[in-house]
Amino acid sequence: MLELQHINYAVHEPDGELGILKDISLAVDDHRLVVFTGPNGGGKTTLAKIVMGLVKPTTGRILWNGEDITGLGITERAKMGISYGFQQPPRFKGLTVRDLLTIAAGNGKLSKDRCCQYLTKVGLCANDYLDREVDASLSGGEVKRIEIATILARNAQLMIFDEPEAGIDLWSFTRLTETFEQIHRAGRATMIVISHQERIISLADEVVVIGDGSISHRGSADEILPEILADTTGACPVLTKGGAAL
Ligand SMILES: Nc1ncnc2c1ncn2[C@@H]1O[C@H](COP(=O)(O)OP(=O)(O)OP(=O)(O)O)[C@@H](O)[C@H]1O
Ligand SMILES: [Mg+2]
Repeated sequence: MLELQHINYAVHEPDGELGILKDISLAVDDHRLVVFTGPNGGGKTTLAKIVMGLVKPTTGRILWNGEDITGLGITERAKMGISYGFQQPPRFKGLTVRDLLTIAAGNGKLSKDRCCQYLTKVGLCANDYLDREVDASLSGGEVKRIEIATILARNAQLMIFDEPEAGIDLWSFTRLTETFEQIHRAGRATMIVISHQERIISLADEVVVIGDGSISHRGSADEILPEILADTTGACPVLTKGGAAL
């Protein structure tokens, strides 16, 4: 179980302190699929990075399976079963797709068949990609899909996906949502998915709307989706015509 207790995160700006996250408290039970959604700049990625240990909260506590992990770094949290896929994944010059999957799986050698299984889930063919370097020669969507495959290979207890739909074509996206459904149905992991996509939001056991650094709504997809759709104030970009999501 993941517990966030009174998380605040502020940065120092020339004209004073800027509050990015304001008193966020949240518990995510095991094997739940929770979607964080809400307007751009609301604080979703920052909160995910706080869970992974990439950003240290100004105040507040993070508990994982009852243990206070607030002071722990990324590597320690990864060893405890937490994984995070970046909104904009980094590239790894000199490492191949096979290397990344092998490191993620953490069990020495990964067979081509296993690599193929992970890559197929994100719509990539192992024959074409296994020996490619994860450098600038890969397209944005390819890098994103490879990173998602590494999270699947890691088989972590808590998987955090930051806008997995971003830059991914419709065919791969459909396959990916099916993979999320399978993991969820099998009770294999707890998933936090940051998304603006109605299709992903509808998979959620719970939807948490984060806006202006706070939780503005929480509830089931059935409760929250109509609220988002009915919010015609334009405060939430998922409603605007420019947002590809809805
Ligand atoms: N280190 C920092 N210094 C200044 N501002 C920051 C810093 N980190 C985050 N922010 C700001 O905090 C806000 C929240 O950012 P965050 O990336 O968490 O938003 P988000 O909800 O993930 O948005 P999006 O939907 O666009 O991905 C943004 O306005 C961002 O510019
Ligand atoms: Mg973000």
